[in-house]
Amino acid sequence: MHSIKKRLYGYKVASFFAGIGGIDLGFENAGIETVYQCEIEKYCQNILNHHWPNIKRDTDIREVFENDNIPKAQIWSAGFPCQDVSLASARPRAGLRGERTGLFYEFAELLSRHRPRTILLENVPGLLNSHEGRDFGIVLQTLADIGYGVGWRVLNSRYFGVPQSRQRVYIVGCYNDPRRTSEILFEPECGARHLEKSGRSGKKTVSPFIECAENSGSNGGTKRVKKEVPIIPKLAFCLAATSGRHTGTDWSRTYIPYKSKVRRLTPEECERLQGFPTGWTIPDGLFASDDDIDGLRYKALGNAVSVPVAEWIGERIVRSLTINPID
Ligand SMILES: C[S@@+](CC[C@H](N)C(=O)[O-])C[C@H]1O[C@@H](n2cnc3c(N)ncnc32)[C@H](O)[C@@H]1O
Repeated sequence: MHSIKKRLYGYKVASFFAGIGGIDLGFENAGIETVYQCEIEKYCQNILNHHWPNIKRDTDIREVFENDNIPKAQIWSAGFPCQDVSLASARPRAGLRGERTGLFYEFAELLSRHRPRTILLENVPGLLNSHEGRDFGIVLQTLADIGYGVGWRVLNSRYFGVPQSRQRVYIVGCYNDPRRTSEILFEPECGARHLEKSGRSGKKTVSPFIECAENSGSNGGTKRVKKEVPIIPKLAFCLAATSGRHTGTDWSRTYIPYKSKVRRLTPEECERLQGFPTGWTIPDGLFASDDDIDGLRYKALGNAVSVPVAEWIGERIVRSLTINPID
């Protein structure tokens, strides 16, 4: 079991489509406790159970509504399946009508029953243009109809200190509170017209995101900056990783130069590419042959949310919930 460094705030997350827990680990690093997970894959369940042995876990989201026993949590997360909107798909994209990405509706149904204060959804950028943008419109409208103020931002993991280029769309929703959504996802200080911060001179202030990025570069970090996830864009060069086999980023097919030849990345290297501790994806007990396990590790890591990105969003959710308590 991993050690949870801080759990200071009393905030809890229920995690849907939990995978191997990228969002959950990032959120825990930000001080949010994971109290529930829903994940259908046996191998992923094994990993989740190893790291979170004592929490409630369901398998298939399609069965949760009928037997709803989700513990109370102010935050819900859902990195819902991307296969039907991914541009890596060889077939025409079914979008939200697809069996897998369409599981969004199951999540929305549960949301409308529980209405947690803050939600985070994650998917590939293909969600933005599937069916000429209509699918994304449906996602936003569905959340808005339930009562969420929604916003989204495309973030690239390379700006959060991991050496791979990985763009994902992150959608944040705050129940009955659109203002808090932008507080979480954006830095108003960098806007030219933010008078409170920039003063009458109208001088543009620097966003904390950019400030942090600039100060974590190659100058040895001499300047002291606010505690944020370290962002190291200069070191985080792009490791392009693609695969025809499934629509996540399956690193079993990515080769890197090695002693004038090429080799695969190891599963441990893939863990580090995603910001997981080394060995995070080693299953408990006799699960399958070693070869099979490597395949399962590559696939699950390819599907995961990069931990430092989740941590950055988690910290901003914590800050926003703390400065906006419920009356
Ligand atoms: C994009 S991955 C999730 C990444 C994960 N949220 C993270 O933080 O790393 C989508 C996950 O949804 C799971 N999934 C697919 N169908 C499901 C279902 N019917 N019920 C629950 N989970 C499902 C997949 O097994 C996969 O692990």
